[in-house]
Amino acid sequence: MACESLFVDWFRDAAPYIEAHRNRTFVIYFSGEAVADSDFAHTIHDFSILNSLGIRLVLVHGIRPQIEQRLKSAGLESRYHQGIRITDPKSLECVKEAAGTVRVEIEALLSMGLSNSPVPGQKTRVCTGNFVTAKPLGVRDGIDFCHTGEVRRLDSASIREKLDQNNIIVISPIGYSPTGEIFNLSAERLAVSVAIDLLADKLIIFAESEMPLGTRDNPIRQLTTIEAKGLLSQATNLCDASRRHLEQAIEACESEVRRSHLIDRRSDGAIFQELFTRDGIGTLVSSTPFEVMRSATLRDVAGILDLITPLEKSGVLVARSREVLETEISCFTVIDRDGLIVGCAALYPFSQEGLGELACIALHREYTGASRGTRLLEHIEKSARSLGLSRIFVLTTQTSHWFLERGFVPSDLSDLPRAKQDYYNYRRNSKVLIKTI
Ligand code: ARG
Repeated sequence: MACESLFVDWFRDAAPYIEAHRNRTFVIYFSGEAVADSDFAHTIHDFSILNSLGIRLVLVHGIRPQIEQRLKSAGLESRYHQGIRITDPKSLECVKEAAGTVRVEIEALLSMGLSNSPVPGQKTRVCTGNFVTAKPLGVRDGIDFCHTGEVRRLDSASIREKLDQNNIIVISPIGYSPTGEIFNLSAERLAVSVAIDLLADKLIIFAESEMPLGTRDNPIRQLTTIEAKGLLSQATNLCDASRRHLEQAIEACESEVRRSHLIDRRSDGAIFQELFTRDGIGTLVSSTPFEVMRSATLRDVAGILDLITPLEKSGVLVARSREVLETEISCFTVIDRDGLIVGCAALYPFSQEGLGELACIALHREYTGASRGTRLLEHIEKSARSLGLSRIFVLTTQTSHWFLERGFVPSDLSDLPRAKQDYYNYRRNSKVLIKTI
């Protein structure tokens, strides 16, 4: 395909997401390792682009390697208990320095704004502040964590106010107590708390480990929170970081964050692929399924038409006008993949004869897998049974093998309801197949 038309297709697919994400609040976590990466300027530039598209961004960054480096130069030992740093007063100095430096570096990169922009001098506004009130972790297992703390309260009202003024908010993993004490916080945990407190639309975790989860051949691109919990309890091959991120993603979604996304921070531009394509490139966690089978409504008519028009042109399906579809919409079941109709089927009941007609079964050409056809058929069979029907029939010209493999048997026109026989199109000469359900 020519490059131009690829671009046009790409843009058409991305446009609904550009629209959907405008004015939404996304909390993005990235590690201190990401900050230290030579590609970090690109990552920040990508954030400026998101901001220019009207996305309300809150960035929460880590500082672990930066602290390590300073501890080392100062000849101090890095002490952990259960994976959590113990921040004694001397280490706190390193923490303060690391947080300050990283914050300034991020601000500086964001101040560059958008490069190659036709709007000269357009500036990305950045805001940092004392949004996080913290409390000490205290003594655990007899170990005093000193200045290591956890979130006590977040000033979400101030964050929202700054977001309203089109600022990107940068939050470092530092919190203050009401008495002015300073605490070193886990940036990952902080990001989750911020997302929950702000009721963010998304929590996006830039993971150090390779994403999506799953295997190269069989990547896990989306999970409901229930499936994610199942994965956590069953999978033996998840690294510690993936496990933690998955737990954080679940926690956010169980507290009203609409979607959590885990993406590989090393993969250039992954954030755009995740946000502006339907299938994404990372792992999406949400409390509701990403793809659902449901009864059609009038709003689905356009989507169904997009799906069936090519099949009507090639003669696989009988042509249906928009008007017919609108009147018959209650007979339709659709598969909705994040707003795109990727499958449909209709069931027309002939109650007196105990028969149902399965019609108009179609799948989107890019989504023919995942047993969608079989699942549609099963769904239609279930609906037919609940209507008290005992058999379903189908009239088909080109796909009889598919139905034969699924329990349909060749039958005669005379086996069909009278009304259907009267309308039989002899020119089309469809095969009659019936299944007892
Ligand atoms: N672009 C959409 C969003 O930002 C869908 C992303 C789907 N991603 C996935 N890994 N399944 O919400």
